Amino acid sequence: SILAPMLVAIDGPVGAGKSTVARAVAQRLGFTYLDTGAMYRCVALAAIEDEAADHVRDVAVLHIDFEGDRVLLDHSEVTEAIRAPEVSRRSSQVAADPHVREALVDRQRKLTERGDWVAEGRDIGTVVRPDAELKVFLTASDEERAARRAAQTGRGLEQELADLRERDLRDRTREASPLRRAEDAVELDTTGLAFEQVVERIAALVAEVRQAA
Ligand code: DC
Repeated sequence: SILAPMLVAIDGPVGAGKSTVARAVAQRLGFTYLDTGAMYRCVALAAIEDEAADHVRDVAVLHIDFEGDRVLLDHSEVTEAIRAPEVSRRSSQVAADPHVREALVDRQRKLTERGDWVAEGRDIGTVVRPDAELKVFLTASDEERAARRAAQTGRGLEQELADLRERDLRDRTREASPLRRAEDAVELDTTGLAFEQVVERIAALVAEVRQAA
């Protein structure tokens, strides 16, 4: 039989392992991976660049493209640049702007209209695609999330802990689409789990959903 197109929504706070897990789930299932955080980061980078120049680009005119694992902003590669701590901080500010959210959510909906996707972010299951066939809300303890970030960035644990608590608070309390678990999302606490176990669990959930369809 022909399988219906499927969208797996993976949401959760910073450092819960969403990117690594979502990427691996997509690869394993042959789905396309969408990193919506990278889109907010591109808008943040554009805002930082525009402050240094004498023009301001509106989010509506920005070209944000994905080529495999590469991220392009107005046709320049920004894969690494968007991971800078300054861009992380700025991205949670631009993500609170309803005009930015509306523009990006619209693109995310169009992008995922056809085919099989693993889309990762903060509001995929609640706002972008509440119709997702499977919604997963990934969590982990603050300490574990900070430790994972520190291993990635090489910065101190305390610094990472302070940073993620600040971003969590902003993501959860903002007016426009605050981070929250969709009622019908499966919550997965990854504290103490190896990432392969998390991938395994999500792949099993996908199989269950397909069987039930
Ligand atoms: O997942 P990330 O750290 O790359 O996300 C960067 C910022 O964008 C973060 O502050 C949360 C925000 N974001 C959001 O508000 N909605 C999304 N769907 C994805 C990210």
